[in-house]
Amino acid sequence: MSEQGQRARAVQTAQRLTLSGIQHRYGPDVTLSYPDVHLEGGAELVVSGPSGVGKTTWLHFIAGLLTPSAGQVRYGEAQVNALGEAGRDSFRARTVGYVFQDFHLMPGYSALENVLLGLGLAGLRGAQATTRAKEVLGQLGLGKRLNHTPRQLSTGERQRVALARAVAHRPALLLADEPTAHLDPSRGADAVALLRQTAGELGATLIVVSHDPAVVGAFERRLELGRAGTTQPELAGA
Ligand SMILES: Nc1ncnc2c1ncn2[C@@H]1O[C@H](COP(=O)(O)OP(=O)(O)OP(=O)(O)O)[C@@H](O)[C@H]1O
Ligand SMILES: [Mg+2]
Repeated sequence: MSEQGQRARAVQTAQRLTLSGIQHRYGPDVTLSYPDVHLEGGAELVVSGPSGVGKTTWLHFIAGLLTPSAGQVRYGEAQVNALGEAGRDSFRARTVGYVFQDFHLMPGYSALENVLLGLGLAGLRGAQATTRAKEVLGQLGLGKRLNHTPRQLSTGERQRVALARAVAHRPALLLADEPTAHLDPSRGADAVALLRQTAGELGATLIVVSHDPAVVGAFERRLELGRAGTTQPELAGA
């Protein structure tokens, strides 16, 4: 299949994800150590732990946004940490849906354009992409905010645009960093339901980072990261 053909295939079969021996050093003062994790394709995991323990950093390893100082991140046959920058960008565009803790929306783009941008990177453009983007934004209660730029949206609305962008291209690996942090409980429940529903429909692997006991309690499998370098983090249900 051509490169273009592969990029246009929005749905892939989720692969096994394995992180082993992961450590990361941010300068001389911060060393983060992580437990080994194995997740079969289509599994769900919630990650919790105190602020600063390294949850966001861990999601960045999986998405190929950051390469750990030591250890391996494997997704199926791919060793994500050994891919070059272009390889990691391509892996992320095709395979990963990522809800950033601080949204990372394009400031000059409308809600609709932000979602279309993610779809374009995954190879979906034109009328089909517009229909899909509107559908997902509508599901998240943003049908009347399509043309608003991030500055014209409330914080909770921005979070929902970020969520829409993450799920619209039907990723096989869905990563969400505090997806309910800026939402009221009812919208928060909708956001988690959308993540789970999307992951379920796609057979995608879902990893959610959350402080919210309601979110943590909703997942059977939990990874609680302890204080880096002091406690051995615990993997429940592994
Ligand atoms: N670019 C960086 N340079 C130096 N230190 C960093 C950098 N990014 C993160 N850190 C440090 O690494 C640790 C882990 O950060 P990380 O953002 O992964 O934590 P977190 O568990 O997601 O926290 P929170 O719950 O507050 O979002 C923190 O102590 C932070 O100060
Ligand atoms: Mg974080």
